[in-house]
Amino acid sequence: MEESDKKLDQEIDKDLNKGTDQDMNHEKGNEPEESQSKLPEDKQGEQEKQKEIENEDNKELEKFPLPQTRWEDVIFSFPQPRIKFGKGVVKNVPKAIFRLLDPMLIHIKKADIERPKILITIGNESVKRMGALDKILKSCEQNSIETVIFSCGKGEATVTMVDEAVEMALEEKVHFIVGIGGGSVMDVAKAAAGIVINGGLAEDYHEGKPFEKPGLPFIAIPTTAGTGSEITNNAVLIDKARGYKKSIRGSHLMAKFILLDPELTLDCPPEITASSGADALVQAVESYVSKKSHPLADIYALEAIFLIAPNLRRVFEHGDDYAARSEMLLGSFFAGIAFSNVGLGLVHGLAHPIGYKYNIPHGKVCGALLPSVIEYNLEYRADKYARISRIFSKLDLFTKYEQEATDEKNTQRLASMIKELLSQIQIPLKLRDLGVLKEDFDWIIENTKGGSVNSNPRTPDPESLRELLENAW
Ligand SMILES: [Fe+2]
Repeated sequence: MEESDKKLDQEIDKDLNKGTDQDMNHEKGNEPEESQSKLPEDKQGEQEKQKEIENEDNKELEKFPLPQTRWEDVIFSFPQPRIKFGKGVVKNVPKAIFRLLDPMLIHIKKADIERPKILITIGNESVKRMGALDKILKSCEQNSIETVIFSCGKGEATVTMVDEAVEMALEEKVHFIVGIGGGSVMDVAKAAAGIVINGGLAEDYHEGKPFEKPGLPFIAIPTTAGTGSEITNNAVLIDKARGYKKSIRGSHLMAKFILLDPELTLDCPPEITASSGADALVQAVESYVSKKSHPLADIYALEAIFLIAPNLRRVFEHGDDYAARSEMLLGSFFAGIAFSNVGLGLVHGLAHPIGYKYNIPHGKVCGALLPSVIEYNLEYRADKYARISRIFSKLDLFTKYEQEATDEKNTQRLASMIKELLSQIQIPLKLRDLGVLKEDFDWIIENTKGGSVNSNPRTPDPESLRELLENAW
């Protein structure tokens, strides 16, 4: 066993037993004596039971399947913007702006700006309702920062929204763009920030025009735990006129500052919470098993799964649970870090054409596809899927990880566990329940292409894709 793998397994074991750390401390004699002697009987019984579980887990650890990645095969870069996480950090927009005016960080110099002006991109009215926009506007006013608001309206990001945002940014001569909202708002704001400086229309970038220069500095403030778009260097845009949904991409599109404030996600309605949370889970799983995965991205992907899996149902059923919302926001962010470095997989490869054709929310179609894609990839990354299944077996689900079973069997169990979890948050499990028609399979297969397909552990062919779609239907 490699030393790095041993360490990773120990980390997993530690995380799986997070809730029992206190009891472990008793064993090690770390607790004050008086607190040990005062333990009630039922607590002592609980401790003994816990000890048994730990012993079982240790046995399990010895047999736990190891991933095949090795550091010596890895080449990676890992660019990160500035990040602030925590309750109430949304009010730090002015601080972020003044920090970014440091000439070392962006091409705009403080001396060139009499008074900073920002374009705030929002989605629907919920940002106003939850008071987040007011907080930003107030703090900007107090700091002599001018603001203008661009509202994208409802729905997924389109090239038209981006072009309109660019037009407003140019007319108003803004210095910064702030995106506050879900993934679509992030994508519009991010693309607009890039195009304001690089010129042209959003459709030009769909056709391959590169972002040669850094865009306007973009500050990302997500209000949903889902896409991870705040940390990615791409924007997924629908072009209704040309009939497609695809990404525009460039290292210059990356946010310069990210404010992760879990309070902003408390008002997210259950249906959007479920759909965006399912997307985050899929992204974590797909990046973990990606063909391009490497140990550093694995750390983020695994931690994302640890954070998302136990909280998905909690935030769906109890939207006001701050602790669960915090872990979901961090989990989706970590998943974003992972996949922006190592790509996604076939769920996303299929979800783009299907989501576009039937106008299905992205997270729902991703959720419905995930169990079938896991089964499709079964023989290619069973070692990693089995590891995920172990994390899932700690949830309140009927199916469990089984230490004596093969990786393949545990991968199948993972597909079942994911179905159970998605049912709990009312995500449809079959494509037919989302309105997908069998007669469109040819079109879907033809349009399943791009980076996500290339990083899937199994290279797909039309025949096997058809079987996969049949299975998911
Ligand atoms: Fe996604």
